[in-house]
Amino acid sequence: MGTLIKNGTVVSAKDSQKLDVLISGEIIARVGSGISEAGHDVVDATGLLVMPGGIDVHTHLDMPFGGTTSADDYTTGTQAAAVGGTTMLIDFALQNQKGTLKEALDIWLKKSDNKACVDFSLHMAVTNLHGPDGAETLAEMEEMTKFGISSFKLFMAYPNVLMIDDGLMFKVMQKAAALNALCCIHAENGSAIDIVVAQMIAEGKTAPHYHALSRSVKAEAEATHRSIALADMAECAVYIVHLSNEAALAELKFMQARGARALAETCTQYLVLSIDDQMPGQSWEEAKFVFTPPLREKWNQGPLWAALKDGSLSVVSTDHCPFRFKDQKELGRSDFRKIPNGGPGVENRLQILWHFGVNSGRITPEQFVALSCTNPAKIFGMEKQKGSIAPGLDADVLLWDPKVEYTISAKTQCMNTDYNMFEGWQVKGNAAKVFSRGELVVDNLKQPGKFLGATGRGRFVKREANAGGLG
Ligand code: URP
Ligand code: ZN
Ligand code: ZN
Repeated sequence: MGTLIKNGTVVSAKDSQKLDVLISGEIIARVGSGISEAGHDVVDATGLLVMPGGIDVHTHLDMPFGGTTSADDYTTGTQAAAVGGTTMLIDFALQNQKGTLKEALDIWLKKSDNKACVDFSLHMAVTNLHGPDGAETLAEMEEMTKFGISSFKLFMAYPNVLMIDDGLMFKVMQKAAALNALCCIHAENGSAIDIVVAQMIAEGKTAPHYHALSRSVKAEAEATHRSIALADMAECAVYIVHLSNEAALAELKFMQARGARALAETCTQYLVLSIDDQMPGQSWEEAKFVFTPPLREKWNQGPLWAALKDGSLSVVSTDHCPFRFKDQKELGRSDFRKIPNGGPGVENRLQILWHFGVNSGRITPEQFVALSCTNPAKIFGMEKQKGSIAPGLDADVLLWDPKVEYTISAKTQCMNTDYNMFEGWQVKGNAAKVFSRGELVVDNLKQPGKFLGATGRGRFVKREANAGGLG
């Protein structure tokens, strides 16, 4: 006895077809036409699209930052993801600069233990190298890949906390290349930015708006180019995270055209929000949008959408890093340096991408699936388990209603913040039902916005080292 999804249109990264999907236990058993209903629970998906559950490869749950901790833990964060149609996250474990990768892994496994509600994995942020020539940490990287962590994060920003210099970055890239692992890069020139920041503060420019002005597109473009060039030298595959603007995109495309093995994501906020919509220098409200890279001028959005369409950008993630406005963003009321960096978004990623991408004709439904799910699974070494509607894969299945209207609001969201970056926006298209490994965990038709599964049911997913699928 299984669950049979009938009368829906199955959308893959390649095509859309009227097909039935049979779930047996935690796995997709069959995909085909006219599967007999006998002995199965039938779910009528008339008018709905049947897609693989979303995969958000860039979240920060329960993460210490700037004297506080991101507001969603593994329970609220994964539940919010599920309610929005996302059934798998890749979060970040951060090495303390004085500590080991193993210590970081233990900390993040403890944070997620008995708390995660959908499946998840971890990238490991390498923030320092220990031992002669970094040998101890480099050896640990091998242990991480054996454990199923096949992507390493390198920060070119946040000096003294997370940033590593070019030499260390190059060593990590060489090791990652030897392991067939992927390096994920936060590409901003942190040293130059810190000088601009100090100059602004000295001039009394302390309001949140100056956070954005202190982190120029040039600082991002320069670091994007440098990181890809270093990776190319090290023969390492790289993935640029949260690429936010046209200048950085131009560097990515330039290096891709020269044969560098470079991929990149952008995030929902850069596609639909802009610094042009803020009130320069006047509003504390702008603290809600203090994240790095910051919001950019609106004209950058067109090139980002075009790059999603032409494939130079491969993924849309969120960089979900939530802080409450009232008591957490408040820490930087008199000094933008103290505003915790990050914004909430994991719950709304698919709504925004569908409404502004598919409904407006910028991307096709198939590209929507590719960008939000199938490409992330391939790039991050889990395509044998996640990312498609195919026999043998985990039954992470999203029934998507392309017609329903939904108003985004902090009042009704699951994310643990007192604001939403898209407050009051009306979108068309939303998750109707969500299955995670075969279990109906969200039924927005019957119990909107409620997670129906048990807390802690999410499992750690071990990922293969496949160099971002780039060979
Ligand atoms: O502002 C952001 N993006 N916070 C999270 C950490 C990062 O840089 O991704
Ligand atoms: Zn970052
Ligand atoms: Zn991030």
